[in-house]
Amino acid sequence: MLPANIRPATGDADWFIHDRFGLFIHWGLYALPARHEWVKNRERLSDEAYQKYFDHFDPDLYDPVAWARAAKAAGMKYFVITTKHHEGFCLWDSAHTDYKATNTPYGRDLLRPMVEAFRAEGLKIGFYHSVIDWHHPEFPVDMRHPMRDNSEYREATKGRDVQKYADYLHAQVRELLTGFGKIDMIFYDFSYPGADGKGRDDWRSEELIAMTRELQPGILVNDRLDLMDKADGWDYRTPEQVVVQDWVRVNGQPVLWETCQTFSGSWGYHRDESSWKSVDQLIRMLIDTVSNGGNLLLNVGPTARGEFDDRALERLRGMGEWMRRHGRSIYSCTQAPKEFPVPDNCRLTYNPATHRLYIHIYAWPYRELHLPGMVGKVAYAQLLNDASELPMIEREEWQDRFEDKQQGALILQLPVQQPDVTVPVVELFLK
Ligand code: GLC
Repeated sequence: MLPANIRPATGDADWFIHDRFGLFIHWGLYALPARHEWVKNRERLSDEAYQKYFDHFDPDLYDPVAWARAAKAAGMKYFVITTKHHEGFCLWDSAHTDYKATNTPYGRDLLRPMVEAFRAEGLKIGFYHSVIDWHHPEFPVDMRHPMRDNSEYREATKGRDVQKYADYLHAQVRELLTGFGKIDMIFYDFSYPGADGKGRDDWRSEELIAMTRELQPGILVNDRLDLMDKADGWDYRTPEQVVVQDWVRVNGQPVLWETCQTFSGSWGYHRDESSWKSVDQLIRMLIDTVSNGGNLLLNVGPTARGEFDDRALERLRGMGEWMRRHGRSIYSCTQAPKEFPVPDNCRLTYNPATHRLYIHIYAWPYRELHLPGMVGKVAYAQLLNDASELPMIEREEWQDRFEDKQQGALILQLPVQQPDVTVPVVELFLK
């Protein structure tokens, strides 16, 4: 249940605050150039120049069951797939366009087997859908369009009618939300209102949200339709590629939130990027997120052969290895009540239902962990990785033998050697 101080969501938030960890997948034609999903925009490519990627799209090794298993083994509980990204290419067999997977050399629907595979592995289903479309003939050329610097092209396309594009957008969303069973969340991306931008009037966002909720009661909707001022205009915030420091708030009120992050900076498959985060950094990122009451949506950009590359698989495996033993400090957990002290180099999470507190130790101390203010509050303490007891000493304020005055504290007796896990976790059973 959503705590009472959190902004209520219109959609069903219960699973979301339990699951905490999801897989984002960015997959489209941009997997072929393999140098960022904004390549059409960055390199100012025309539709004609971009066509070669459509003509050569043939992910022959695509096996969505393997993807779903990799996500599940990593400890992920839901996934969000780009049904269409800004390039306009559709993974499913839409009745409203020819610019879709079924017309490429691959020749088959990519979305349906993916949804089926992830559902069969027990993961919840989310769709990312770009409201931006750099391929649609009625999408007006604006400040973010790949053809923005081509004045002839701009002139020639002046008559484009964004409302006709919006009809297409709505029709496709209707397809997605009626043809694939229960959809648990939708991630619309994105608005940039202003003179040469696009926002709620262009997308007809209010109508789009109303339809979304009508077709999929309970669906959670993200925050990028330019409806931040509407009570039912969004359910959760989506801080992207940033380090969140505390519970995300809107007008001072804590809200549901999910941060989306890449392994390396690009969302689409990027062959030559070398800034990959380590397993250790990624596990800390997940812990940091939950310790601030949020979810982590971690992205893989599959290759144009249809696989997760080895760098991604290695990190998913590393996270899964940790999650197998430490999922208890993540699932159903949230920010700890402020009354609990955060020891140096540690992060806390808390499970309100079981009343357990988890201390994630980022730098292993020598022999003792001091918890001031916790005397009398803990019934039992153990390491989470092997459920080995951590003896506790409870001390009121005392004078040590070197005449120093010590604060009253619960002292956990740690082994000298750090357990052989990426981030060790102490589980405290509170009284
Ligand atoms: C952005 C980008 C993008 C990515 C997304 C993920 O707004 O346009 O390429 O899909 O955010 O949050």
